[in-house]
Amino acid sequence: MVVVAILAAGKGTRMKSHLPKVLHTLGGRSLVERVITSVEPLSPSRRIVIVGYQSEEVKAAMHSIPNLEFVEQTVQLGTGHAIQQLLPHLEGYTGDLLVLNGDVPLLRLETLQNLWQTHKENENSATILTAYLSNPKGYGRVFCDGDSIVQQMVEEKDCTPKQRENNRVNAGIYCFRWPELAKILPHLEANNAQKEYYLTDAVTQVGKVMAVDVADYQEILGINDRLQLATAYDILQRRIKEKWLLAGVTLVDPTSITIDETVELQPDVIIEPQTHLRGKTVIQSGSRIGPGSLIENSDLGQNVTVLYSVVTDSVVQAGTKIGPYAHLRGHAEVGANCRVGNFVELKNTQLGDRTNVAHLSYLGDTTAGSQVNIGAGTITANYDGVRKHRTKIGDRTKTGSNSVLVAPVTLGDDVYVAAGSTVTEDVPDDSLVIARSRQVVKPGWQKKSAE
Ligand code: UD1
Ligand code: CA
Repeated sequence: MVVVAILAAGKGTRMKSHLPKVLHTLGGRSLVERVITSVEPLSPSRRIVIVGYQSEEVKAAMHSIPNLEFVEQTVQLGTGHAIQQLLPHLEGYTGDLLVLNGDVPLLRLETLQNLWQTHKENENSATILTAYLSNPKGYGRVFCDGDSIVQQMVEEKDCTPKQRENNRVNAGIYCFRWPELAKILPHLEANNAQKEYYLTDAVTQVGKVMAVDVADYQEILGINDRLQLATAYDILQRRIKEKWLLAGVTLVDPTSITIDETVELQPDVIIEPQTHLRGKTVIQSGSRIGPGSLIENSDLGQNVTVLYSVVTDSVVQAGTKIGPYAHLRGHAEVGANCRVGNFVELKNTQLGDRTNVAHLSYLGDTTAGSQVNIGAGTITANYDGVRKHRTKIGDRTKTGSNSVLVAPVTLGDDVYVAAGSTVTEDVPDDSLVIARSRQVVKPGWQKKSAE
């Protein structure tokens, strides 16, 4: 049985931010959320987050994660002090405690499984995750007897110059037998450079402590400042792109592309340069996205193309061509084999199959049927200054260039709207509507006005 505790009470001074450190995002999810979800497959009996600095914000940011418990550390006197706060909550508990740092977001599940397995197999009192870093700056150093029995842990600020040369570092991830740790915790002292109660001091006072080296040192990167956040992002991006490349996705100039971990791509998708895929986005096979596009929380069907465009919170069906320079947002739904082209914005708008909006249009709160042709410059006036209204357009209807459809308004099937019309009233099926003043031509004008 294992209880997981996540250290997330610190301010993160080195981030130089109003936002608590653990709420900074990495690839679309906060640091602490990443840490929490990474332990889910271990099925911990309890997950306890230790919060302190701006705890209300931190808790609110995690409200959607079920069965989390929060313990307050009202003053942040160090990682040992943070774990001391668990004492009243884990009274009588006899199992293992897995401690994770809320600012170490790249750990792999296999690493945690291996740590816990080693802990149990060797009947250790504590087992800690370590790594050899070519640049160990900022990390606590770990000194072992032989290969893996931990003798001493020294924070960098407390190291002698000689100790600082040791490049085996503490990842900040630990497995403890809780009853043994609980006995030590009340006796921690803060006589060190930072005047803090260190969890690392407790580690070396329990019984047998073993160090387990992480396979890939990049996993244990701790985020203390924005430079490390950027480095972590880089590592994460490389992992994500490697996965999709090997799954049959083409990334043209991968370094110029960013992809959130939450995105799903099918084989034979092509992502062109300077394209960014975010949130819960799904792109089906044969689609070509980019160059220069942003897709966020959207579903794109097979063989869709998107060129220099922005698509957020929207759905696009198979074979549709978006762009260049289109903007779909606010739950736009575009049918199959449509064209949404140059400088077109769709907001909360549904289009049927084989409908085209090719140039310079805004359609907001609009439902249009299939095989509709929206002429260049057609605008739905959906806002009367107070409320938004809907426009409905039937199948096969065609609007002339520069038409304004003033909502609420309904155009039936097979309607023709004359160019330059301002349509304020409903139009029945199979009609031509002309809603503009007639052209007036006055011959000989220049001569007359000179008289
Ligand atoms: C800690 C370790 C160090 C290790 C490094 C790995 C200690 C004393 N040092 O150092 O050996 O190499 O992590 O990344 O543990 N926190 C609290 N309450 C506090 C203080 C901190 O909850 O009173 C939380 C922070 O929010 C953070 C985590 O604990 O998520 C680590 O704290 P931080 O101050 O970043 O420790 P490091 O100096 O990085
Ligand atoms: Ca840290």
